[in-house]
Amino acid sequence: MTKTNLWIDCDPGIDDAIAIAACAASQDVLNVHGISTVAGNQTIERVTNNALLLTDFLNLDVPVVSGQAGPLTREKVDAGHVHGTTGLGDTVLPKTSKTVEPGNPIVFMRDTIMNLPEGEKMTLVPVGPLTNIALLLKVFPEVNNKIEKIVIMGGGTYGNRTPTAEFNIWGDPEAGKMVFDSNLPIVMCGLDVTHKSGLNREQVKELYDSDKKIQHAFGDMLNFYFDSPAYINSDLVHIHDVVAIIYITNPEIFTGQQVSVDVDCTDGINRGMTVCDLRHTAPEEGRNVTLLTDLELDKFQKILLDKLENL
Ligand code: BDR
Ligand code: CA
Repeated sequence: MTKTNLWIDCDPGIDDAIAIAACAASQDVLNVHGISTVAGNQTIERVTNNALLLTDFLNLDVPVVSGQAGPLTREKVDAGHVHGTTGLGDTVLPKTSKTVEPGNPIVFMRDTIMNLPEGEKMTLVPVGPLTNIALLLKVFPEVNNKIEKIVIMGGGTYGNRTPTAEFNIWGDPEAGKMVFDSNLPIVMCGLDVTHKSGLNREQVKELYDSDKKIQHAFGDMLNFYFDSPAYINSDLVHIHDVVAIIYITNPEIFTGQQVSVDVDCTDGINRGMTVCDLRHTAPEEGRNVTLLTDLELDKFQKILLDKLENL
């Protein structure tokens, strides 16, 4: 069976960390070529340090490149209130001697994609602001023919950072627009589906109580989420970024529809909104985005817990 070639672009981030763990646990079906970091949940230094710690902790032997330190044109705003000062809640992972790859990160991504064997393509999975991906597509358009699809955790038909905008797209709307306008096949794994996914308190407690260090660490990180005001009275903690990975390994548990998407790049109240054209009468042309709308929760939970268990 051919494995899916994968590149992860992320800002770890608690849910990014679990997305990386799911990749590490899925190497029978995924060929993970590398990880780029982008400023989002925390500063570029912190998220890059987390990516290095995580790959070492998970024995995931892939290159890590340190990407953009802020959005294309705007000021950077982090999400320390959601992911803590380090980006991984209060969890402290073992130190690592692993370092980032030298040189320009976007050139490294370009070369990795272009060096794939003839006939093979890369699936990009950005789960942070789209700054690196926008630059990659703009500066090196030759990669277009070597990209299978882009599975984005971001956007949706409503927001979390604001009433209408999701955090990753709100963080760098101009980059988001460049990616959605690329005409490449895109899967939008946005809030419509990630808010229907997650683990419940009992499942998180079992992870936390595990005597295995990896499961315990992720249980600890998820408890940090549960302790935040967003989860008062909630039995389900959303782990947005891992949904994009499970979509790739198990697309059969998801439902979606083809739409066109535009991004609001103004400074008005809809900054960063992904405007999805849901009209039946919308032109067929330009519907390059699969908007994920639902998933089978029990199957999702079993798949995720099995993956974490196997690490
Ligand atoms: C997204 O925002 C970040 O805080 C998470 O890591 C996720 O990528 C959810 O809106
Ligand atoms: Ca993220």
